Amino acid sequence: MTEHKILFLPGKKTATFDEGILFREAALDLGIIIESTCAGLGTCAKCKVNIKEGASPPTKVEEQLLTPHELTKGVRLSCQARLIGDSVCVVPPESLTFGEQIMTEGRQGRFAFDPDLKKFFIKIPPAELGEKYFDFDMLLAQLQQRGVEISRYRFSLVREIANLLRQHDYQITAVVDQNYLITLEAGDTTPALFGVAFDLGTTTIAAKLLNLANGQVAAVASALNPQKSYGADVISRVNYIVEHPGGLALLHRLIIKQMNELLAQLCVHAGIPAQHIYKIAVAGNTLMQYIVLNIDPRHLAYSPYTPVFQGPATLDAKELGLQIHPDGVAYFLPNLACFVGSDITAVLTVLDLDEQEDIQLVVDIGTNGEMVLGSKDRLLCCSSPAGPAWEGAYITWGMRAARGAIERAEIIEGDLQFRTIGSADPIGICGSGLLDLVCEFVRAGVIDKTGRILNADEMPPLVNDKLKARLVHHDNGSNHIAIAKLDAEKSIMLMQKDIREVQLAKSAIVSGIKILMQELRVQPEDIAQVYIAGAFGNHVRGQDAVDCGLIPRVPVERIKFIGNAALAGAEAVLLAQAARRKAEPLAKLVGYVEISERSDFHEFFVESMHFP
Ligand code: FES
Repeated sequence: MTEHKILFLPGKKTATFDEGILFREAALDLGIIIESTCAGLGTCAKCKVNIKEGASPPTKVEEQLLTPHELTKGVRLSCQARLIGDSVCVVPPESLTFGEQIMTEGRQGRFAFDPDLKKFFIKIPPAELGEKYFDFDMLLAQLQQRGVEISRYRFSLVREIANLLRQHDYQITAVVDQNYLITLEAGDTTPALFGVAFDLGTTTIAAKLLNLANGQVAAVASALNPQKSYGADVISRVNYIVEHPGGLALLHRLIIKQMNELLAQLCVHAGIPAQHIYKIAVAGNTLMQYIVLNIDPRHLAYSPYTPVFQGPATLDAKELGLQIHPDGVAYFLPNLACFVGSDITAVLTVLDLDEQEDIQLVVDIGTNGEMVLGSKDRLLCCSSPAGPAWEGAYITWGMRAARGAIERAEIIEGDLQFRTIGSADPIGICGSGLLDLVCEFVRAGVIDKTGRILNADEMPPLVNDKLKARLVHHDNGSNHIAIAKLDAEKSIMLMQKDIREVQLAKSAIVSGIKILMQELRVQPEDIAQVYIAGAFGNHVRGQDAVDCGLIPRVPVERIKFIGNAALAGAEAVLLAQAARRKAEPLAKLVGYVEISERSDFHEFFVESMHFP
């Protein structure tokens, strides 16, 4: 097969690839993740790059999605353009997702430090001649004296123990997870005991290295989920797996590779070898968990949406290709239901909904919205496909929360003011900025309750001329709003269609909540506490969430933002047996409501499209 070289800029990454490879896939090979909301179906136009030479001619899809001006300047869709000669490919910041803000902090639970994973330094008295003595049984007896009843061990340890004891003066360290004897080590290795908590999201992966000898956080790392190139949300990933033989194996490989890279980063930051990590605890949405475990997820996506298993599960880490101690284990928290994964179990683990008298609501806002409502009497959950609008997908100037994204906007003294991430020149709008913009324009009367951008003469008299001057009329009769000038010809715009995307996304979330409220016969005023989880949620202003109808109308002071509580939950499970003991039954306790085929969901959805 003929090969050609590609130089990717910026970053100057270069490699040789087989002729015919898509530029998007070549980039991924080098760890460059290009936005690919539609998973390469050729509908989103988010994967734009600039290719100098060496690319196949533009496809029909590119002729439809790119302007003639863009095509003459070498702009291409990286999911369409194939390599035919040596090439230079420039990935612009809005397509390149490096530098992203990934949340790794979240609300912690109140559990005393007492991990399942422990090390025991043991001195076994040497055998006397004539004594009835078995090496391995002596070890088990010593552990029993420390309160540990071993019920499972690898038989290879029985083979190894005799030499280990005699070569090291009968002094060894036993590594135990609950009642599973993981391994035996020579001498006293008790200070070297680490675990890693993972939160596997559709978009991002966060990891925390914990010293399980003292309970301290040793390092934190995060990355984009490399599967992003195969679809922005869970449904497009499942579709990719269904439609491509080998799709599951590919997505599995990608996520394991990324987890291993994060493990390596954590070890470098903390200055420890990977062999000192004996356990990982994983929280994540159901699909991510299935892909890591190599379980075919197709049944999640088709009625009656039956998951294969709930969990929890503990596996040998090496079976999954995870590079920690060769005898280390991987613990997966249990899922709640079809698309309500173990990330929500982890969130509930650090909250106390199951102990509260008052009604509480948890909302995790992502490409899929997950909600749990109830009290100690009854808890119900559901999920609702919000789509990737909050991540900037299908928004004309949308982008993820990276440098240069407009993240805050406010109308001050009659005109729009905004702030960008990193105080950089604006290059697009991320989810929190989008919500701010829409809410501010609705409150100002520039956008009406139905979501329509009004003509200047339809706006209330109080709307300032500076705001009216931002209107741009489109030939099709709709209006758009100019947000920030980029140069003499180009501005970042909020388009009419973008507002519709916001309405669809917020309506999906709040309709799911309304279904749960209906099931539990709860009114907004009955909800004593609203917890908003997730990276996007943490950047939402409580007032905006209420004013745009993303959540029911509750007093703003009842809203709490809990950050990456899924990672905090996985962390809690590593640090405290009590957290794991809470998580496992909790997953069974929470009831599930399937909303997809309920007519009242569709009624709520239509009714919630309007701004309240
Ligand atoms: S158009 Fe290329 S990934 Fe969507």
